[in-house]
Amino acid sequence: MQPQKRYFIHTFGCQMNVNDTNRMGEALAGMSYAPTPTADNADLIILNTCSIREKAEDKMLSALGRYRQVKLQRGALIGVGGCVAQQEKKKILEKVPYVDFVFGPDAIGKLPDIVSRIETEKVRVVETAWVDSENYVFPQADPKTSVGRTTEFVTVMKGCDNVCSFCVVPHTRGREVSRPFTDVLQEVARLTTVGVREVTLVGQNVNSYRGGISFAQLLLRTAQVPNVERVRFTTSHPHDLSDELIEAFRVEPKIMPHFHLPVQSGSNEVLVKMKRDYTVAAYMERLNKLRAARPGIAVTTDIIVGFPGETDEDFEKTYQLCADVRFDGQFAFVYSPRPKTVAGLKEVEWGPVPHEVKVKRLERLNALQRQCSLEVMAPLVGQTVEVLVEGHSRTREDRRFGRTPHNRVVNFDGDAPIGSLVEVQVEAASQSALSGRQLKTLSLPNVVIPEVAPVAESCVVG
Ligand code: 5AD
Ligand code: SF4
Repeated sequence: MQPQKRYFIHTFGCQMNVNDTNRMGEALAGMSYAPTPTADNADLIILNTCSIREKAEDKMLSALGRYRQVKLQRGALIGVGGCVAQQEKKKILEKVPYVDFVFGPDAIGKLPDIVSRIETEKVRVVETAWVDSENYVFPQADPKTSVGRTTEFVTVMKGCDNVCSFCVVPHTRGREVSRPFTDVLQEVARLTTVGVREVTLVGQNVNSYRGGISFAQLLLRTAQVPNVERVRFTTSHPHDLSDELIEAFRVEPKIMPHFHLPVQSGSNEVLVKMKRDYTVAAYMERLNKLRAARPGIAVTTDIIVGFPGETDEDFEKTYQLCADVRFDGQFAFVYSPRPKTVAGLKEVEWGPVPHEVKVKRLERLNALQRQCSLEVMAPLVGQTVEVLVEGHSRTREDRRFGRTPHNRVVNFDGDAPIGSLVEVQVEAASQSALSGRQLKTLSLPNVVIPEVAPVAESCVVG
């Protein structure tokens, strides 16, 4: 019998990519490839790439350089998938002669064909065609991939029809396609058979979901699937945040009290150039309505600093917005020009912001956020929080790790099995995590969850 071949997938970027990696693993399992946790003994290495910012692209190029050795030593096949592959296929093939294949996000199902063509015909393969919206079929997740996990991501849509001027996603992921709601609910139900109790519905812009019911209804229906205890989602665009969705937060306690609502800038002038389609006042109106519907809800955001033409005054408006809102968490990024985007093409005309200025602005915002996060976390010391146990703490094997309904990370002393809902007494807090000890167990998962690493996800780099 031929020894089984091994694959290693290096995942960059967002949750959509992590999900795509899982689907790649499932496609490869069908052709007798098994996962390996390191590239060194792999027969097939795939880089699942991200191009949202220049840094992500640079990281993928330097990783490719490292994997060249494995190619030389073992003759491993090397493939590049994901967003960079979709946009830069020509450049990759020309610049990196040891890449055997390049495939876009719509070609994951073709992975077995691609690999066997290379193995038999010894050719380089490129598969980056879009599948038309009407013909696109979302790959169904295999629940086996989720064994060991009590929280899982479920794809509800792909692509994006917005045209935010800084964003490469519409160019790499194409037009919005929603997954039929019956398929989503079936996948959620199947995941619960391996002990999944928390699902996060994911898409680039979930609020414009059109898979047969509204997104709010999809959340409510997901919450009713037996054995689902917690429902989350990401990511939302403020201009699609409907009253119906806000109402869902008021009526359904299984929808967790956390909302990621990217504001991007606190200046209306910048928001117009970003083509975000809302004003600061409109953003605040939605946010306040949400906070009224679910008091205490955690709100997190994304911000870009140094967008072309952003003045000191514009930035001060962003800083003031953050100081007023006091977000629970914030991902702030230095603007990075992306190919084919309007802002990328107009950067010189609108006025590039010098790198040092961008970095200073980022540091100020991050310092403010550290203060805001600590303000939220510190008062939790001495309180009891509910935690869904996800596994061992990353820093200490003998401790457990999980999250609160507000999505706050908790490391704690205790022995509750993965998938348990427990009460934890908080004893210490930092800006990013809580620490404590387990009190009583509130409920156990419907099946025993083994303590194993998930199979397909080899490595995730932000
Ligand atoms: N430069 C910097 N940040 C960006 N983002 C998207 N495109 C860019 C870019 N060109 C950020 C936005 C988005 C998050 C996922 O990444 O804040 O919400
Ligand atoms: Fe990009 Fe805007 Fe679509 Fe989000 S909504 S993926 S930022 S184009």
